[in-house]
Amino acid sequence: MSTSLQARAADVFAAAFGHSATRFVQAPGRVNLIGEHTDYNDGLVLPCAIDYRTVIAARPRADRVVRVVAADYDDAVDEYDLAAPVTRLAAPMWANYVRGVVRELLLLNPQLRGMDMVIAGDIPQGAGLSSSASLSVAVCSLFAGLPGCAAMTPIATALLAQRAENDFVGCRCGNMDQISSACGVADHALLIDCRSLAVQPVPIPAGAIMIFDSHVSRGLVDSAYNERRRQCEEAARHFGVPALRDVDAAMLAARGAELDPVVLRRARHVVTENERVAAAAQALAAGDLARMGELMTASHASMRDDFEITVPAIDQLVGIVKEAIGTAGGVRMTGGGFGGCVVALVPDGLVETARQAVERAYRGPRGEGATVYVCRAAAGAGGMAG
Ligand code: GLA
Repeated sequence: MSTSLQARAADVFAAAFGHSATRFVQAPGRVNLIGEHTDYNDGLVLPCAIDYRTVIAARPRADRVVRVVAADYDDAVDEYDLAAPVTRLAAPMWANYVRGVVRELLLLNPQLRGMDMVIAGDIPQGAGLSSSASLSVAVCSLFAGLPGCAAMTPIATALLAQRAENDFVGCRCGNMDQISSACGVADHALLIDCRSLAVQPVPIPAGAIMIFDSHVSRGLVDSAYNERRRQCEEAARHFGVPALRDVDAAMLAARGAELDPVVLRRARHVVTENERVAAAAQALAAGDLARMGELMTASHASMRDDFEITVPAIDQLVGIVKEAIGTAGGVRMTGGGFGGCVVALVPDGLVETARQAVERAYRGPRGEGATVYVCRAAAGAGGMAG
């Protein structure tokens, strides 16, 4: 548990509000091992929660005032009264993630009471490791079960956080990030069926999860993400099914040629990626890192050639890590695409080899190296002892 993060949140709380926090919650970020852009196609994903997280120190209030302090933004404050409509701000964005969840909670619990809270986190922001989903899930977990707010299951928490991001913040993301953060299991990946919402923990074999932040900023991500969603929806309509989840290789072979060639490539990525996720869950469960490595390589190629969401610097970074770890592990871009991070599953004995290879050969857009995180699969959101 990030005790230093909790201590920082507690200290800032005492300084800001003049008394101690009585409630602490945390929610982890996530890294996706395989299954990219399949969640909003009702498909399969295989992420894990990571031991980088958002922590909130809080104290429930008897009145209806919400006061939020962002420890990572120079202790900036957002304050409002739940008696008035909770509205979206032009800035800062972090405040909207809290407001969005509070507004969703109010729809379910009109008598929701106020809260003093301090937010602190150590998930790199803008790197595709779901710092925003972890914030939304943490806020929801903070209120759930308190007087004036019904208790919620982890899945209900995740879906509420997703609605807040979709409807209030305005990002059409799928449900993978929030489910990973809410339902994480230590040392396990999660095989998530994004349609049925079944979550099956899959043990991760011994070794390290390495994350390499390319420092390529994910600038175009929103418009390109929404364009990919539209193309997937167009393909599903062509096949007369609710989502690409319902299309298989045989259907693609029979009727794919009628599609616009770009849309066909998008559909082919999703159809083959779903197959790879199912195979990857089996490979992980069997402790077969070599097979997992093949599937991750195929996933990366599909993201590069069919879904067209990688960029040259990311392809280069994946190539450097692959050369260092060979067939003993796996590596691919992770997350929405157009920059961000690369994830690798690496036997412990090759961690330093991979790190040094990247240090030697990779330079980001401003000449800097990649930042390397070695992490463990972590438990999902929940309370922390005070
Ligand atoms: C982002 C979204 C997720 C998912 C991934 C791509 O992280 O928030 O819902 O669609 O991109 O797999």
